[in-house]
Amino acid sequence: MQPVRIAENIYWVGGIDWDLRNFHGYLTQRGSTYNAYLVIDEKIALLDTVKHYLFDEMIERISSIVDPSKIDYIVSNHVEMDHSGSLPMLKKIAPKAGIITSPNGQKGLERHFKEGWDYRAVKSGEVLALGKRNLHFVLTPMVHWPDNMVSYMPEEKILFSNDAFGQHIATSERFDHEYHLEIIIEEAKKYYANIVLPYSEQVKKALAAASELDIATIAPSHGIIWQKNIADIIANYRTWSNNGTQKKALIVYDTMWKSTEKIAHAIQSAFELGGYNTRMLNLQHNHISDIMTEVIDAEFICVGSPTLNNNMMPNVAAFLTYLKGLAPKGRKALAFGSYGWGGQSIGQIDEVLKSCGFEVLDGIKVNYVPGSDELKNITEKIGEML
Ligand code: FEO
Repeated sequence: MQPVRIAENIYWVGGIDWDLRNFHGYLTQRGSTYNAYLVIDEKIALLDTVKHYLFDEMIERISSIVDPSKIDYIVSNHVEMDHSGSLPMLKKIAPKAGIITSPNGQKGLERHFKEGWDYRAVKSGEVLALGKRNLHFVLTPMVHWPDNMVSYMPEEKILFSNDAFGQHIATSERFDHEYHLEIIIEEAKKYYANIVLPYSEQVKKALAAASELDIATIAPSHGIIWQKNIADIIANYRTWSNNGTQKKALIVYDTMWKSTEKIAHAIQSAFELGGYNTRMLNLQHNHISDIMTEVIDAEFICVGSPTLNNNMMPNVAAFLTYLKGLAPKGRKALAFGSYGWGGQSIGQIDEVLKSCGFEVLDGIKVNYVPGSDELKNITEKIGEML
């Protein structure tokens, strides 16, 4: 349980959640970390904490550097409990520590913990002097909660970015030069798709504010710290926040007796012939949070379900609810499915896709089992629309 030095007298003192596999419905196959940072100066500051069950781990790391009771300030960049969950226990050990947070952060922390702690609510541009170093605060509301803010230390060129630029990866390596860049970017993409995507407009504003700063280190609150590849992650955030899509089509479906799956393959053939990269995503085998990672750069989202009990299948409904909430913009879409007698599922899917604001092509509906001519016609019909 050692701390990791980030700069002179600045340390990572977070917790590693090796076994985390589900982060409120988001599948985290690689676990995660909750990154807390300790600054030792004339004043001692801790930036964020960890999930409550990793409190002992964080305290062990802090205690190897300084007596935790000597902490002067706890900067809470974000209320969500993966970063604030240890506050009540920490405040018992460090009762004199004042809590620096945004105005919405104070409201949120008061609602979470019902404690009359010593708060200082800061606005964008306010500075906390620690001695030789200072923390400048920039409020970043709705990236991704109303309370979010980031802290910037100009003397060390460190941006403590909280959730932004984070990734759910549990590792002992802390820096991007120590780990596989492709995996870090893939997990950052998944994080963006599942957490940040609805707030892309606010991300653009935050990126504009960040472009004014001289940044040598981005220290997020999850996963790996960016130093070597800052330009890469900023460029990716620009692309993702601008809804930059590629010539790529997703075919997302569930199936009962393989008829809807046959239609899915006919659709996939059409896109393949049209020069698209394609992904066949059977919802029985693919988690919705992994599908969202593919949605991030897909031009087309085709969604299929047979009709079951006058409805689409529950897996498909769950995916559409999740997709709609995460609100990707500027996509094209298509509903498809087989049916026995009612056939309501295709219209229902079509309606949800339209309510997402997508450009929706005519749906494809086949009674019972599609024949080879029908499948050929589907491929040709879609090919003509591309
Ligand atoms: Fe990592 Fe929004 O909490």
